[in-house]
Amino acid sequence: MDAEIVILPDPDALAHEAARRFVALAREAAGSRGRFSVALSGGSTPGRLYRLLAEEPYRDQIPWEDVHLFWGDERCVPEGEADTNFSLADEALISRVPVPPENVHLVRGDLAPERAARAYDLEVQDFFCGPHARFDLILLGLGEDGHTASLFPGSPALAERKRLVAAATAEYKDRPTQRVTLTLAAINSARQVLFLVSGSAKAAIVQAALEGAGKDLPARQVQPVAGRLTWLLDAEAARLIAT
Ligand code: 6PG
Repeated sequence: MDAEIVILPDPDALAHEAARRFVALAREAAGSRGRFSVALSGGSTPGRLYRLLAEEPYRDQIPWEDVHLFWGDERCVPEGEADTNFSLADEALISRVPVPPENVHLVRGDLAPERAARAYDLEVQDFFCGPHARFDLILLGLGEDGHTASLFPGSPALAERKRLVAAATAEYKDRPTQRVTLTLAAINSARQVLFLVSGSAKAAIVQAALEGAGKDLPARQVQPVAGRLTWLLDAEAARLIAT
């Protein structure tokens, strides 16, 4: 299925568009299936979205008791250290909304990556009653090297086709290197995958991901088999693609 590409004028409009879509998907999922499972992304881009979701008019439209929060990836650092994807979401969103604590499905980033990956895999399988996860929404970011979640170029985790979760190693900026990530098996089974990309530093890799010839960039391998794929870009991130 072709990707839907939506270009918004600036980071603020990007976050509002993502928030509107989050609300619509949450209401639809809760109404028809009784729960809304979403995997949040990390990095700096989604912070604005998370803050908006905790504010009106979005906050009151979301059936928080039916929302189940997961993560697309997490950084493995000792407990209490800042800079985890959970801490970003907690500060901007989770601590500000009435989502039940038992609906927050953490990656145990305080464990060694392999152990944390196994524990998170069991958590996901437990929620989906087996090894076939179908998240209602997976939010993803895009790294300047084409990585998404913690699926980095050349990473063995990219080849995982069965397990839902893998341990991974990342060398990216000054960010923690030990990671746990959803695999393509999990991501490509989602009902909706939503990339959120902002800023001119991402323009070249956005062009490569959407228009390039090679198929090896991790972000290019995100192709939901029976779900929708949407790229929300701000104008700076989109400036090199044909519109
Ligand atoms: C992480 C991520 C990662 C992130 C991209 C984009 O743990 O760092 O989840 O995949 O989404 O690196 O990060 P920015 O939004 O900061 O550019």
